[in-house]
Amino acid sequence: MADWTDCLNFGISIAKQASKVVLTAFQQEKEVKLKSSPADLVTETDQRVETIILSAIRSQYPQHRFIGEESVAAGERVELTDLPTWIIDPIDGTVNFVHRFPFVAISIAFTVNKQTEFGIVYSCVDDKLFHAQRGRGAFLNGEPLHVSGQEDISQCVVVTEIGAERDDLALSTMTSNIFRLLKLPVHGVRALGTAAVDMCQVATGGADAYYHIGMHCWDIAASAIIVREAGGVVKDTDGSEFDMMSRRVIAASSAAVASRIAQVIRPFPCSRDDDD
Ligand code: IPD
Repeated sequence: MADWTDCLNFGISIAKQASKVVLTAFQQEKEVKLKSSPADLVTETDQRVETIILSAIRSQYPQHRFIGEESVAAGERVELTDLPTWIIDPIDGTVNFVHRFPFVAISIAFTVNKQTEFGIVYSCVDDKLFHAQRGRGAFLNGEPLHVSGQEDISQCVVVTEIGAERDDLALSTMTSNIFRLLKLPVHGVRALGTAAVDMCQVATGGADAYYHIGMHCWDIAASAIIVREAGGVVKDTDGSEFDMMSRRVIAASSAAVASRIAQVIRPFPCSRDDDD
């Protein structure tokens, strides 16, 4: 089995360097532009950080491929091939970043043969570096991570996001999904404003589940392997196999909790990330 540890270590060092740029800009005024909706924002820092990460990796690994949030926003296609591919979100939680709400992350996943080999989520403001490598466990600042193992939905804290989709059908479906979950009941519903960090809460055991419809592959590719390597389950919101391009995810502490959430959640239409 190929060993991608050198790439993982390189990714971690780049994430640490990029986080200095994010943290400096975090305190400053930002020029904000809209992308797909009034809640889908981009700043000069998102673009700058993506360029820093891409050029560093490109010069070290010139044969590798990339899927980056801002490159896709600029018109590049999302194409996951069997070649080694880095999937990058330079700032996950851009709305938080703009408002100085202190949860923003750099998310880097690496796939080979369409399988994720490792994931890195660096929650910059609170200096929490999550990482996992396939078959080697998940870690937070070097310490092993384990999901809660909770199997009873009524004992769960569930994390979700309203996200950037703001048409009537998406909004009413998302809010009624939260309503149905609260009525099960669950202990609580939370949202941090970054899918990557939300999902890592499941890996720490601090939350028991996360679900979301409408995020993108770069938001959750890294945290999906972190949850799995921490002993959790990652599924599509209909309970089928997880597909990072489908824009639907449940991450849970157990198969029982994932399946209970899948019974409650209704989908709304969103085009796949790899649709042309
Ligand atoms: C967003 C965040 C947010 C989620 C959105 C994502 P971005 O990513 O992860 O939590 O609800 O769906 O698009 O735009 O800040 O990278």
